[in-house]
Amino acid sequence: MIYHEPVLLKESIEFLNLKKDGIYVDATLGGGGHAEAMLRNSQIKQVYAFDQDIDAIGFATERLNKYRNKLTMIKSNFEEMRTQLALHRVSGIDGILFDLGVSSYQINDAGRGFSFDKEAELDMRMDKQNETIAKDILKSLSVEELAKIFRELGEEQAAYKIALWIDAERKIKPIQTTQDLARIIEKNMRSNPVLVIKTKARIFQAIRIYINRELEVLDTAMEDAVNLLNQNGRLVAITYHSLEDKIVKTKINDAAKGCICPPTILKCMCNQKPRVKILTNKIVKPSEGEIQINRRARSAKLRAVEKLPGGLR
Ligand SMILES: C[S@@+](CC[C@H](N)C(=O)[O-])C[C@H]1O[C@@H](n2cnc3c(N)ncnc32)[C@H](O)[C@@H]1O
Repeated sequence: MIYHEPVLLKESIEFLNLKKDGIYVDATLGGGGHAEAMLRNSQIKQVYAFDQDIDAIGFATERLNKYRNKLTMIKSNFEEMRTQLALHRVSGIDGILFDLGVSSYQINDAGRGFSFDKEAELDMRMDKQNETIAKDILKSLSVEELAKIFRELGEEQAAYKIALWIDAERKIKPIQTTQDLARIIEKNMRSNPVLVIKTKARIFQAIRIYINRELEVLDTAMEDAVNLLNQNGRLVAITYHSLEDKIVKTKINDAAKGCICPPTILKCMCNQKPRVKILTNKIVKPSEGEIQINRRARSAKLRAVEKLPGGLR
């Protein structure tokens, strides 16, 4: 089974600049494609691999069995990375990869409820132990709250109108499945089919990001990752939509900038020094060849930084 085709594989491994006895983190294990490429380098010491999805941990444990001595699987949200690594007595790392979002397996597995063209309970949790599933929020949140999610996390212009359609429908019967939600959008939109599909994609994306707190945890984890890096350690992040990319870009720009004094102050008072050097002044994108083989790669953007000497915290 192809669980997930890794995106920008060669580029991300090159940017990680794997070194002898290095300790690495794959923050988003998925099917283990990137982790396997790290582990193929026999000189590295250990890879700590995180995923909050038990299916990913199960699949990759089997796939990467022959590397088990150098691989530590951690079934956890990467927002817990600092604590989890501390439990394994790791306080510094030589590189970390974030390959964000959902895997092809999660999208294609109808039962997970991520896809608007596969009938399933409206679930969308990456971590099946979380209590709230997508259909719960369509039941419990107000029109205003739903509209805010669609506008801010789906960048949907008709956010309020769509929240009103949902509200009208749920007064008649509960919205339980992916198709219940998809049909509300189809029924109310009198536009061309391409626009309907794009709208469904934006609404499903918004709910998915909300349910999994994707932006919130990324913000925390990026900060922790920069702090965990040893001198000359590398952070590589692959994003798939503008909201994720904005967080990664802001975090690495802040870490590269150092001084955070307001521009009106003539002499620096904060004494903060740059902690990282940006390695990707030009964002790295997949080649046309990769996009042709793997459509999922089309929106990918890779950014990378290196920890500076003296940038330790
Ligand atoms: C794009 S896939 C990674 C694919 C992987 N690089 C590969 O080569 O197969 C993203 C994976 O990260 C996991 N994930 C996303 N956000 C996470 C988070 N906050 N904490 C832990 N795992 C997360 C998802 O469950 C999914 O399995």
